[in-house]
Amino acid sequence: MDRVLSKDIGGFEGKEIAFTGWVDVRRDHGKLIFIDLRDRTGVTQVVFTPKDKDLHALAEKLRPEWVVTVRGAVGKRPVGMENAKIPSGYHELQATALEIIAEAKTPPFDLTSDGREIGEETRMKYRYLDLRRPRMQANVRMRAKINKFIRDYLSEKDFVEVETPDIGKSTPEGARDYLIPSRLYPGKFYALPQSPQQYKQLLMVAGFEKYFQIARCFRDEDTRGDRQPEFTQLDIEMSFTSQDEVLALIEELYTKMVKELYPEKKIKWSPFPRLNYADVMAKYHSDKPDLRENKEDPNELAFAFVVNFPMFEWKETEKRWDAVHHPFTKPDAKDKDEFMKLFAEGPEKIKALQYDLVLNGFEVAGGSIRTTDPDVLAAIFEAMGNKPEDVREKFGHILEAFSYGVPPHGGIASGLDRLIAILQNEPNIREVIAFPKTGDGKDLMMQAPSEVSQEQLKELHLSVEEKIKSNNK
Ligand code: AMO
Repeated sequence: MDRVLSKDIGGFEGKEIAFTGWVDVRRDHGKLIFIDLRDRTGVTQVVFTPKDKDLHALAEKLRPEWVVTVRGAVGKRPVGMENAKIPSGYHELQATALEIIAEAKTPPFDLTSDGREIGEETRMKYRYLDLRRPRMQANVRMRAKINKFIRDYLSEKDFVEVETPDIGKSTPEGARDYLIPSRLYPGKFYALPQSPQQYKQLLMVAGFEKYFQIARCFRDEDTRGDRQPEFTQLDIEMSFTSQDEVLALIEELYTKMVKELYPEKKIKWSPFPRLNYADVMAKYHSDKPDLRENKEDPNELAFAFVVNFPMFEWKETEKRWDAVHHPFTKPDAKDKDEFMKLFAEGPEKIKALQYDLVLNGFEVAGGSIRTTDPDVLAAIFEAMGNKPEDVREKFGHILEAFSYGVPPHGGIASGLDRLIAILQNEPNIREVIAFPKTGDGKDLMMQAPSEVSQEQLKELHLSVEEKIKSNNK
């Protein structure tokens, strides 16, 4: 007998079926035992009558989260007992056989509530149980729909999805890198990408013209509600493009996505306004203002672009000028000479072809048109405090690539975790990531980070300081 799903039960009225799932709740009404059985599509009510004594006795043993198969006939629920809120709500399964597939220990917390009342430590330790609750199921399933919508939309527009390496070389995006020690090359390290920035630009040199990727990025920075050490970007790059084209693309994508997947939500302004960085800072003292009329209303989406960023900011701790976005952003200068002149006159005055997308107080995307003139790019690296020999060592590959016929290009990357959290009305991005790290950067379920064996360290040519070893004991 094929497995019948909860959402399809109604179509089997009068028929014998087998239903497999988890015991959601059990209710005993005198001699009748009601079990809500749960599968990926919802719950189905099962009734055990005392007619078959053995079956009834077996049903009495059932506890929440046991995995079972029940056979029986699908019947209409008695009048007045229907539940119009769920697809299976007009029917029930009258059990004639019960097979227990797996018993379950009592879960450490309630799985039927929305879970907000439970401490995060416990939820994360048993994330595989936490994910069973309807709210988390909805978040993870919606995320898959959003990914599919993005893939369909961009593929239709002739973008090609390219996977870029996670094991590579460090790209400066402003955060600390996660490093991977090399076994084969003692003392050398790979870095996990803070973003696919350089690879996507090299794909433009390679002639793909329109690239996208739903890419995992890694940044070793302090975790917050809207920040994870590993997070997901919708990463986009286009050749022969302009700021207007990039902004129009992301605006149309998100407008259509909201219309199709979140019809209850209203986008406040269409087209999205383009605000000057300087005006936004003067008015809101933040580069990601919450522009909603009513901050309590989760169905209001106040998207806005922030444009005309400065190229550089002074980094007091390192006593040097740093790129506000990243060094690949194009400054408003026509060539190296003009750039050098402007930099000498006042680095803070140089504008960049950079843009952010903000939504309800969060930065949900950022990007820029890129510098493709290798001389200007080398001058920017030096302006940021790199010695000429360091520039060759760290960025020689990209400067060389740009000497082989580089198309002008630009792009954007959108933080999908943040976007989805806002759309799902969640207060932090951990709620929309299947297996996130805790606020202090741990995976409590798998117990990471963890110590490794002496043999592993030796193979990697590493040793851990004695002081740290004894602290870990
Ligand atoms: P940027 O560094 O602005 O740009 O990142 C793009 C977007 O990624 C999201 N984001 C994060 N989300 C969760 N946790 C984090 N730690 C985190 N850090 C960033 C934000 C942000 O707007 N390569 C460039 C893009 C480009 O120039 O095309 C980049 O990564 O929503």
